[in-house]
Amino acid sequence: MDLQATVLRQLKNRREGFSLEQPFYIDQDYFKLDMETIWYRDWLFVGHDCEIPRAGNYFTAQIGDYPVVMVRGKDQVIRAFHNTCRHRGHRVCTQARGASAKLVCPYHQWTYDLDGSLVFARQMGETFDKSEFGLKTVHCESVAGYIFICLANEAPDFAPVRASIEPYMKPHRLWEAKVAHQNTIIEKGNWKLVWENNRECYHCAANHPELCRTYPEAPTATGVQGAGDDPFIAEHWARCEAAGLPSEFKMDPTGQFRTARMPLIQDAESYTMSGKPAVRKPLSSEVPISHIGTMLLFHYPTTWNHILGDHAISFRVLPISAEETAVTTTWLVNKDAVEGVDYDLEELTHVWNMTNDQDRSIVEENAFGIRSPAYEPGPYSVGHEGGVMQFVEWYTTFMINRLQGDKARLTAVA
Ligand code: FES
Ligand SMILES: [Fe+2]
Repeated sequence: MDLQATVLRQLKNRREGFSLEQPFYIDQDYFKLDMETIWYRDWLFVGHDCEIPRAGNYFTAQIGDYPVVMVRGKDQVIRAFHNTCRHRGHRVCTQARGASAKLVCPYHQWTYDLDGSLVFARQMGETFDKSEFGLKTVHCESVAGYIFICLANEAPDFAPVRASIEPYMKPHRLWEAKVAHQNTIIEKGNWKLVWENNRECYHCAANHPELCRTYPEAPTATGVQGAGDDPFIAEHWARCEAAGLPSEFKMDPTGQFRTARMPLIQDAESYTMSGKPAVRKPLSSEVPISHIGTMLLFHYPTTWNHILGDHAISFRVLPISAEETAVTTTWLVNKDAVEGVDYDLEELTHVWNMTNDQDRSIVEENAFGIRSPAYEPGPYSVGHEGGVMQFVEWYTTFMINRLQGDKARLTAVA
C-alpha cells in the first residue's frame, strides 16, 4: 500500500480526542508528506516588513528544501524569490540578511535587479537572452507588517486571511516598528509537537513561573472555546472595542487562523517580571488606552503572536527534519524607542527567552517519549487542551482534503 493511502487511512480512522500515532511525529516519509502537502503549498509567515525597511534590504529563509529570499524593491514593494541562481543554481544570497543595490551571485557574478530580473551575465555570447533567466518568483503578500509567502505554483486565495487579521493588527502599526531582538532556537521535536505544546496552557503553571506572573492560564483565555462566556474577558473586549481595537475571538471557518485580544492577569500590561511595560514608548500611536492585554494571532503552520501595548512578539515555526524544528522569536518595539534609554533588552526579552527554553525542553522530552515502541496515542484533556484538539483536527482535515483532492486529480488524469 502506498504511503499516501496509509496516511489517509490512519487519519480517517484516528481516535478522536487522542494524540496522533507515532510515525506522524518521527517518520521521515511522513515528514516529507507534511512538507509536500502543507508547507510547499500553503501560505507561510516568514518575517516582518520592518526587517527590510529600505530598498535593497533582504533576508533569507529555508523552507524544507527551498531556499528563498525576501527583498524590498526600489518601488518599496516586498517580493520573494527562489534563492537559487538561474546560471548553475548557487545560492544567490548566502547570508541570513543584508543590503545590496543588486543581488549578485557569488559564484560567477550573475547580477539580478531587486525585482528579480537578470541584468548582467558575463560573456554569455551574443544570442543569450537575459530576459529568460530572471530569479523565479515566489508568491508574496504583506499584511499589517507581516510577510507571508507561498511556494505553490498556484497559491490559495490570500484574501480571507487579509480580511480577517488586518483589522485586528492594523492599529498596532507593526510595519513601521523596529526589531529590538531576534533569536532562533532549534527544538529536537516534530513541528506538530511544537504546535501542540503551544496550543495549551495545561502545562503552564508547572513549567512557566515567569510567564505565569502575567499570562492567564485559564483555558478560556488560552484555548479556543468559551472566551465570550468569561465575564472578565467579555468586559475586556467591550472596553478595547470601544477604543477602536477589534478584540473578539474570531476563528476562520477552516480553523487555520484565529485572532483574539485577551486580558493579562490583574494590572499587568506586559510580559515582564513586574507586569509593567518593558518599553517606555508605546508601540503604536493609534492605541488610545492602556491595559489592552495581548492580541493573539495564530496562523497554521508557521506563526503565533502576542501584540501588547508596549511591544509585540512574533514566533515563526520552520521544520528542519522529522525531529527538528526551528523557532524564531522576534521582539518588536516602537521605531523611535532606544535601547538602554526606553527599554532594557534583558528585561524586554527575559520572560519569553525563559519560556521558549522551557518549551524547548518540554517538546524534546515529549519527542523522546514518543520514540518509544511503547508509545500509543493518549487522550487530550477536554477542559484544558481544546486548542490542541483544534490543531490536530485542523491538521487531520487539511491533510485528508489535500490527499483526497490529489487522488481525485490523479484518477481524473489516468
Ligand atoms: S551559479 Fe550563479 S553565477 Fe554561476
Ligand atoms: Fe509553554
